[in-house]
Amino acid sequence: MAIERTLSILKPDALEKGAIGKIIARFEAAGLKPVAIRLQHLSQAEAEGFYAVHKERGFFKDLVKFMTSGPVVIQVLEGENAVLKNRDLMGATDPKKATPGTIRADFATSIDANTVHGSDSLENAKNEISYFFRQTELTHYEWKK
Ligand code: RTP
Ligand code: MG
Repeated sequence: MAIERTLSILKPDALEKGAIGKIIARFEAAGLKPVAIRLQHLSQAEAEGFYAVHKERGFFKDLVKFMTSGPVVIQVLEGENAVLKNRDLMGATDPKKATPGTIRADFATSIDANTVHGSDSLENAKNEISYFFRQTELTHYEWKK
């Protein structure tokens, strides 16, 4: 399996609940390593740009409002099959439908306050990583073969 990189965001509710350590521990336990990590309070323009693919959707305004309501942790996770692995750890978008034991099932309270973002494809991961991080901000691990 290939080593991939994906973009992960711990949303404002994760910080509000004081849950970032517990959530990052799940990624680490699953073999995903952070190669870049930053705490940031997104501006409206930054959140709108990030979720631009959804700009015609009815939930766009609420999504941007929530994502700018407090600081977030933005990180690049690296590991085998990272894109899909991260999505599996996250669980379904609506926490009511998320599988027990996933991050959203265990921490999220609503479809807006759903605790984490994860890239949904390798191509989107590349675009999302470059939206937030310069090439020189990404560190490197020596993965054992
Ligand atoms: P994300 O991008 O945040 O990782 O979430 P996702 O892939 O699971 O879901 P996506 O379809 O990309 O939607 C982005 C975020 O918009 C909010 N949303 N609300 N009210 C609704 O029907 C609705 N649908 C989506 C969610 O907060 C979702 O995470
Ligand atoms: Mg998405």
